[in-house]
Amino acid sequence: MTSTENPAPKHIAIIMDGNGRWAAARNLPRSAGHKEGAQAVRRVIEAATELGIEFVTLYAFSTENWSRPKEEIDTLMNLLEKTLDEYQKSAEKKNLRIWVSGEREPLPPQILQKIDKLVQSTAAHTGLTVNLALNYGAQQEITYAVNQLLAQGKTQISAQDITAHLYQPLLPAPELIIRTSGEQRLSNFLLWQAAYSEFYFTPVLWPDFDKEELKKAVLEYQHRHRRFGGI
Ligand code: IPE
Ligand code: IPE
Ligand code: MG
Repeated sequence: MTSTENPAPKHIAIIMDGNGRWAAARNLPRSAGHKEGAQAVRRVIEAATELGIEFVTLYAFSTENWSRPKEEIDTLMNLLEKTLDEYQKSAEKKNLRIWVSGEREPLPPQILQKIDKLVQSTAAHTGLTVNLALNYGAQQEITYAVNQLLAQGKTQISAQDITAHLYQPLLPAPELIIRTSGEQRLSNFLLWQAAYSEFYFTPVLWPDFDKEELKKAVLEYQHRHRRFGGI
């Protein structure tokens, strides 16, 4: 590392976008894109572990994604359940700690049970923390924080108060936010935490994202000049 380089990010947050377009380009149903997207999740968790990243937040399902057709939501929930089962089996060996950010309602009870079990059973692991943004919306998260503060009887709140009452208060703000598929927007992701994040947009569709792509993003991040309002 030269003196002008940033150290590797501790926390990378990823908007995993483009599954549908990946499938459409192959004349496949959208579900095939989501299935392939789940493979990319596995690869990226492995790559992040190898790169020594401490936290990865994965935007898996937004509060707005409920507006998709029921069939697609069912596909996504089934894939999620499978992934949760898989990590229940492998998280110990991989030393992964699983956290979740999002609202519980209206996630199906069997998914909530699996999430609770996985979060509980991996809480003491010391490797990569995978924070699943699931049924997640940043506006809802900020509202949740404010409501908690109101419930405590606060009449004045600070920025630190809000930070301390987000879904995962111990999660540091992401230094780097990646969005695949060429879209350049946040889509209600981490609005509060992104205040000083670096953004990396790539045209690569999520199912094609791999270790090399992650390395490219990290390298570009390392060469960014972060100023935080200074000079
Ligand atoms: C991302 O891929 C997966 C989720 C939002 C759950 P999309 O399904 O949004 O894929 P595109 O944007 O239609 O290509
Ligand atoms: C953002 O992708 C949500 C996830 C990746 C889970 P979308 O595909 O839902 O976002 P928009 O609708 O294009 O903004
Ligand atoms: Mg999309």
